[in-house]
Amino acid sequence: TQRRQQQRLLARAEQATAERATEFDWDSLGFGLTHVGSTMWMATCSAEDGQWSKGELQPYGPLPMFPSAQALNYGQAVFEGMKAQRSAKDRIVLFRPDANAGRMAEGAARLSMIPPPPELFVEAVTQTVAANADFVPPQGKGSLYLRPLLVGSGPILGLGPAPSYTLVVYCASVGSYFKGGQLTPIDLLVETRFHRSAPGGMGGTKCAGNYSPVLVTQLAAKKEGYSDVVYLDAKTDTYLEEVSSCNIFAVKGKTIRTPPLQGTILPGVTRRSIIELARSRGYTVEEVPVPVEEAMQADELFTTGTAVVVSPVGSLTYKGGRRQYAEDGQPGSVALELYDQLTGLQQERYPDPFGWVVPV
Ligand code: COI
Repeated sequence: TQRRQQQRLLARAEQATAERATEFDWDSLGFGLTHVGSTMWMATCSAEDGQWSKGELQPYGPLPMFPSAQALNYGQAVFEGMKAQRSAKDRIVLFRPDANAGRMAEGAARLSMIPPPPELFVEAVTQTVAANADFVPPQGKGSLYLRPLLVGSGPILGLGPAPSYTLVVYCASVGSYFKGGQLTPIDLLVETRFHRSAPGGMGGTKCAGNYSPVLVTQLAAKKEGYSDVVYLDAKTDTYLEEVSSCNIFAVKGKTIRTPPLQGTILPGVTRRSIIELARSRGYTVEEVPVPVEEAMQADELFTTGTAVVVSPVGSLTYKGGRRQYAEDGQPGSVALELYDQLTGLQQERYPDPFGWVVPV
């Protein structure tokens, strides 16, 4: 009967979804929880046998957890960000879901968690998108942001890994991440007091714990009118690492440089894709340390991430000096080109020679 009740709830939520989605004003979308998918997907795994349940859809709602849940006390939590989009081929597609599955598994290993098998991860996001199809905005109006979340949900008191894990996928319709619209250049401040991560630490992991320590600097910078902050490396305070929520690239002529993956920055799926795309378009892309002074002299800077897509940087402020990349407030031409190529590929307006696009 519990199962039947759950199915009834699900059917009701789906009906409500269809009604609400048709009335929704897609032009009002920012990046937030204004239009949350009504259905989420959930599976559990006991550490005793390490076996994941097959998972199921259910109405979006609170997770049942004890206050002693490992994740709430000791932070076993990793997440992913992905987008489903309505494509020019009149279907809904995902972008490189296998890459997100792999990254979640790597993060889980670092935090001694039991990751879902990649096939289960992909099945989970696919089912979530299919169940929330009405929440996928019309083409060009945004996307359905998916948030797969793996938490040590089981209770524990002494420090140790959780006795059980939950994988949940929820979603929301989203538009532009930064205020001002997708290609409005952002103003970045180089953070000189705090570091985001250190060699041997957790910086290369998409763990929940990496995203709260950045708030103190981000909120202060926002108060001063900046869009976000850029972190420098903890060892020398010289090289760019990343922005709170995205990776960073510097352009000089036909050469594009971006910080290398040495465990201190997030191995972004968009980062990886932009490197390949740029190379395929004749740019030289170097994954090398990028001194902040070099970035100040670059022709243009841009950031990448699932949420931010490709965001041109309008200015970079470092120790009181401000470099304005475009006086006219226009995005840099390389950022514009790569944004167009990436989104064109993701929305099937352009061919996908890489095999990155996966229909739902
Ligand atoms: C994403 O780009 O998907 C992220 O997870 C970053 C987050 C801070 C919104």
